[in-house]
Amino acid sequence: MWPAGDPGTAASSGACLLLLALAAAVLALVVRQLLKQRRPPGFPPGPAGLPLIGNIHALGAEQPHVYMRRQSQIHGQIFSLDLGGISAIVLNGYDAVKECLVHQSEIFADRPSLPLFKKLTNMGGLLNSKYGRGWTEHRKLAVNTFRTFGYGQRSFEHKISEESVYFLDAIDTYKGRPFDLKHLITNAVSNITNWIIFGERFTYEDTEFQHMIEIFSENIELAASASVFLYNAFPWIGILPFGKHQQLFKNAAEVYDFLHELIERVSENRKPQAPRHFVDAYLDEMDCNENDPESTFSRENLIFSVGELIIAGTETTTNVLRWAVLFMALYPNIQGQVQKEIDLVIGPNKMPALEEKCKMPYTEAVLHEVLRFCNIAPLGIFHATSKDTVVRGYSIPEGTTVITNLYSVHFDEKYWSNPEVFFPERFLDGNGQFVKKEAFIPFSLGRRHCLGEQLARMEMFLFFTSLLQRFHLCFPHGVIPDLKPRLGMTLQPQPYLICAERR
Ligand code: HEM
Repeated sequence: MWPAGDPGTAASSGACLLLLALAAAVLALVVRQLLKQRRPPGFPPGPAGLPLIGNIHALGAEQPHVYMRRQSQIHGQIFSLDLGGISAIVLNGYDAVKECLVHQSEIFADRPSLPLFKKLTNMGGLLNSKYGRGWTEHRKLAVNTFRTFGYGQRSFEHKISEESVYFLDAIDTYKGRPFDLKHLITNAVSNITNWIIFGERFTYEDTEFQHMIEIFSENIELAASASVFLYNAFPWIGILPFGKHQQLFKNAAEVYDFLHELIERVSENRKPQAPRHFVDAYLDEMDCNENDPESTFSRENLIFSVGELIIAGTETTTNVLRWAVLFMALYPNIQGQVQKEIDLVIGPNKMPALEEKCKMPYTEAVLHEVLRFCNIAPLGIFHATSKDTVVRGYSIPEGTTVITNLYSVHFDEKYWSNPEVFFPERFLDGNGQFVKKEAFIPFSLGRRHCLGEQLARMEMFLFFTSLLQRFHLCFPHGVIPDLKPRLGMTLQPQPYLICAERR
């Protein structure tokens, strides 16, 4: 017979067993993670990483696009990074980006299934959607709607001009005193997309809409933080009740609810098949595909698409204009030359029109140089490979995350002389005419290239010329603000004050 056991010993041996099981589970997880971190055979070389977190720590220590350009000078234009068990390659310089996004456009058109994107949009919507039927249907609808309700209509140019007047009048209320232009530019720019998506604009006093844009834009900043990269590598971090990922999820839920209500409101009096804006057109598509079980049009994907279009259109164009204003105050001689061209071609009172753009090469050159130099989306949006492939002799497996370092393209010495100098004349020929440059790709390349490029170009030209036609821009007391960008998926200037004095 077995001797009766001491209950204290049984409890402690039970605890020991539990600890042992826990230690074995942790060990198994660590081994699995270390195996995941091994470079696949034939994969491009890259900087050595730390156990478990790979190269994530390096992305938090320096501006990621600058770090990546530096690493490309050591490991080559195509090198690899380990984002904590997520294999990624980074494309640097124009040739490498073109080789992948253009020459192998289909294979490089996917988006990575990162836990963050899965959690936020379930890989649906448009901007983050996987390359397949969902993306094709949503992109086609967005392109057609942007043409129908946006730049395809002559009257749309008047809508931008009307918005410019609200914008300039709001600036006038400061009477040359210092103020931060950020909110006014954000409101003016987002209203252009709002016309297309909702068929209405929001007043500059609408604090609810502004709050939605603010927290959405905070998410763009958070999405590039090292702690969110950590969440992508170790999604179980999501159960922790604190951290940047929690702020990001809270903001995303608030934005979702706001857009849900707004969509309900603007579609209230909808007449089927007589769309007034993007939301109506989307609901028509849902009706048409009602009996198709494979259809990707859904209420949820409508909310994701609307959110993506608003933020993709607002965050980028706003930041280009904020940098443009900053550089005009920084270089008064360049500002003066733009104003000279405006006075000559448009005159002091007439509203600027798009047809005048081709007669204004210097202004065009300045806007192009701002886009090149400031790199609004320095790493574009992450891509992924949809199949196994080979590039420059390297084997890249299906599902690899692909980072396009657009900043390195705009500072590629093979294509740009003295790239670190702000020099609009690089876009002019000997006769002062505007010249296009092949390695100028702020809107990226290939199948996923920016679908708002045409709209953004219209907005930038009309807002910028209207602003400089009416005002002279300078820093208060000549104090130059910090020029280092604020980090995020987009690069924006640090907050700065400007004086806009009537000319
Ligand atoms: C100066 C302003 C803008 C810049 C610099 C810019 C830049 C970019 C870049 C770099 C991408 C990534 C492309 C890729 O994945 O390779 C992108 C994608 C995108 N942009 Fe823009 N963008 C601007 C304005 C706009 C506007 C005004 C809209 C619409 C209102 C817009 C909508 C989108 C969408 C929907 C995508 C995702 C396309 C897809 O996944 O198929 N963008 N943009």
